[in-house]
Amino acid sequence: MALREPALEQPKSFEFSKEAQKRVKEIIAKYPKGRQQSAVLPLLDIAQRECGNWVPVAAMEHIAELLDMPYIRVYEVTTFYSMFNLAPVGKHFVQVCRTTPCWLRGSDAITKACLKRAGTKKLGENSADGNFTIVEVECLGACVNAPMVQINDDYYEDLTPEQMAAVMDDLAAGKKPAIGTQIARQNSAPVGGATVLKAVPKTKPAVKKAVAPKKATKPAEKAKAAVKKAPVKKPATAAAKAKTTTPKKQG
Ligand code: FES
Repeated sequence: MALREPALEQPKSFEFSKEAQKRVKEIIAKYPKGRQQSAVLPLLDIAQRECGNWVPVAAMEHIAELLDMPYIRVYEVTTFYSMFNLAPVGKHFVQVCRTTPCWLRGSDAITKACLKRAGTKKLGENSADGNFTIVEVECLGACVNAPMVQINDDYYEDLTPEQMAAVMDDLAAGKKPAIGTQIARQNSAPVGGATVLKAVPKTKPAVKKAVAPKKATKPAEKAKAAVKKAPVKKPATAAAKAKTTTPKKQG
């Protein structure tokens, strides 16, 4: 797909905006000395947001310089994650989930509806008005509400082809359609309400009589009690000793 390869037309240079520079500094400072390269993902994300949803080569080079790492390492990261686009895309980047649960629930029809509304013939193509780019991706983790799509940072779920077109109409008109499920359900709860744990138990569960805990004794008190209990051995007196010793036989 074209979005996974660097665009032929590239800007000559890239700089983070002043506001983004502050954020970049904060992110880099989170990592221990010598480990700043770990900031590559959040920096690429900021660069993509600054460039209108794609990462130019100049941005990758700039990030490589900032993090003191080879450009090829930044390139590898950017091309590995499908969240980064290497070519310009439409204002609304539509990712249609096509993995099994969404596919079984009609993701093919959703893709068709998207392409029709955008007026594009194939996936990855930008619409003539610059509003949309449609791609297909693997599971986005909202399978319970399949079929679903991600548009920029938002999820739209429980879609029909008609609802999909309506969402895109709103976006094209500059409106903000409701995100999440497009049907009457609470988040990812079952359609029509709860299906289990609905009955209230008739009998009250038996309650065990609470036993008062024994009063805890302090260690000093314990020691005193032990001394009291122990029998006191009297030291043997000299007279008592004399009584117990057998007299020696005389002559
Ligand atoms: S299969 Fe589509 S969100 Fe998981």
